[in-house]
Amino acid sequence: MTSHVITDEMREPAACETRDALSRPLHDLRISLLDRCNFRCPYCMPETEFHEDYEFLTRSQRLTHEEILKVAGVATGLGVSKIRLTGGEPLLDKKLPDLVRGLAALPGVEDLALTTNAMLLAPAAAELADAGLHRVTISLDSLDEQVFKTMSGGRGDLQTVLNGVNAAEQAGLSPIKINVVVERGVNDHTVLDLLEHFRGTGHIVRLIEFMDVGNRNGWRRNQVVPSKELLAMVQQRWSMRPLDRNYPGEVARRYQYVDGEGEIGFISSVTEPFCGSCSRARLSSDGMLYTCLFATQGTDLREPIRNGVADEELGDILSRIWLQRADRYSELRRSDVAEHHALSKVEMYRIGG
Ligand code: GTP
Ligand code: 5AD
Ligand code: SF4
Ligand code: SF4
Repeated sequence: MTSHVITDEMREPAACETRDALSRPLHDLRISLLDRCNFRCPYCMPETEFHEDYEFLTRSQRLTHEEILKVAGVATGLGVSKIRLTGGEPLLDKKLPDLVRGLAALPGVEDLALTTNAMLLAPAAAELADAGLHRVTISLDSLDEQVFKTMSGGRGDLQTVLNGVNAAEQAGLSPIKINVVVERGVNDHTVLDLLEHFRGTGHIVRLIEFMDVGNRNGWRRNQVVPSKELLAMVQQRWSMRPLDRNYPGEVARRYQYVDGEGEIGFISSVTEPFCGSCSRARLSSDGMLYTCLFATQGTDLREPIRNGVADEELGDILSRIWLQRADRYSELRRSDVAEHHALSKVEMYRIGG
């Protein structure tokens, strides 16, 4: 993880750099380990849809760690230097440290991060850090007990999550980022308290605009609180100063408290899309490769892998997919495009955030 600023010009193109149809390099691989989650956040996996009888992927449908390592190894060969493990909830995989160890050992991996709701993090943090995990990003939408309960679908326990944050800090899994999805009328009134709590801790809170990912979260534009509005609210309380991006393609707009108490970020995919610099590929737990969070189609890598594809050939498949890539859904989020996509967008819990 870099703390200094790297501009596009400064970044040396990797010898093997692969660029898509809009000239965007492939730098990040986001790996969804499993589609299950111990939460039911209404904006992601509403309980009404993801109930007892919902059929999640079976073990044999999911990629094994070995298969994931094969894809990741090939991807690093094509220029991927940043890997994020997501879910669903990746800590539901009891053998996660083994996978982390394998990924951390891959040449070219400069940043290895995990996104989690932190319910299971406290007992796992030290082992994950030992295995080579660099840092964690924790989804935590409110510090108000009642609001937190609602936003985790009645499943989360706030104190357990906060213990997870502390354990991550103790284990050195920093910088710790706290992801807050802000939904109008649901948790927007608790945002300032949450910022206050983490001010001065070194943890970076990021306020995320509620997005129309998938087809099941009942998204309406009027539920989005635009980052501009949030920034104005924050600035009424504290003086803030904008910061440069940490790296090209960074999703969050960074701001710093003028009094030196730390940094926050705004992720404004709805009001200020950032497709122009999007360098992320996403691997679902059943081995589909998606080139956009809002994809309607992916490419099955599991079948060729299970048919014994050689690394070189898998590299050709990945290169071909990336070379053809022209996704920029957030920039095109007009109603006609959205309507078309609404038919069959992939769900967020299948490809991580
Ligand atoms: P850092 O590596 O720490 O900068 O994190 P990141 O930028 O990869 O962000 P993270 O994985 O924590 O994602 C935060 C949120 O940003 C996600 O939960 C999504 O809501 C949103 N997000 C991340 N990547 C994309 C993307 O490619 N497109 C869109 N539209 N939203 C994204
Ligand atoms: N809009 C914005 N962010 C979302 N996430 C999940 N669903 C949405 C959505 N509809 C984010 C969560 C978590 C990550 C896995 O994805 O905050 O940090
Ligand atoms: Fe689970 Fe994260 Fe989705 Fe919430 S947002 S249901 S914690 S995967
Ligand atoms: Fe990337 Fe698609 Fe998100 Fe645009 S909408 S930033 S292309 S993942």
